Amino acid sequence: MPRIPLIAGNWKMHKTAGEGAALVRALLADPLPSRVEVAVCPPFTALGEVRSALGGSTVRLGAQDMYWEAQGAFTGEISPVMLRDLGCTYVIVGHSERRQFFGETDDTAARKAGAAFAHGLIPILCVGERLEERDGGRTEAVVVRQTTQGTERIDPVLASTLVIAYEPVWAIGTGRAASGEEANRVIGLIRRALAERFGENVAARIRILYGGSVTPEVAAEFSSQPEIDGALVGGASLDAGKFRKIVEASAA
Ligand code: PGA
Repeated sequence: MPRIPLIAGNWKMHKTAGEGAALVRALLADPLPSRVEVAVCPPFTALGEVRSALGGSTVRLGAQDMYWEAQGAFTGEISPVMLRDLGCTYVIVGHSERRQFFGETDDTAARKAGAAFAHGLIPILCVGERLEERDGGRTEAVVVRQTTQGTERIDPVLASTLVIAYEPVWAIGTGRAASGEEANRVIGLIRRALAERFGENVAARIRILYGGSVTPEVAAEFSSQPEIDGALVGGASLDAGKFRKIVEASAA
């Protein structure tokens, strides 16, 4: 069964609710290619208005993070139940910015990924090596560890719908994307780790995206690679025209 490409926009800490709704309206002004699944991940505060702006469109809604408990005394946190209630399909977990600035670990990413599935959300689990890890020859060890530990709490029965985003940390927001070939190679290693964890058949169905400085100019380089099933797009997803071009390049 072929894997349907997913292009997900990670807006990070950008866009008020009104700005987010306007971006989505601009994105939906013309039909998007149907062979690609598209998702937008606004900040929590814009989820409601973006959902309204999406209306009956096939573009999916995702959140950028969540806590793993359904409810409770966790001031400032957002639960999977709340995200489902707002119409989210996806939730990003373990993004490198959460790991770098907010103490996220493989263990917290695993808790979040498990809880996401338990509440009907699909986690987009982010993995990727830092520059010093790459330079030290540890890329494989790092991404395999992050993949194996990050999926520890996922029910194997649900795992085929999991999404992984391979985002080398040195490529995020730097304008220095990995080459398509190198991203394909590392994603192949991640798929092998998933096969160890869930078996070949499940691993063959899991979508693995590339992320890190994806622009309209380089999008086709990734979508043409056999192991790469789409992109997690940061900066370029804040511009409806650029994001559309990335979606179109991935459908070509
Ligand atoms: P970028 O971010 O496209 O701006 O490099 C990607 C991400 O962090 O998901």
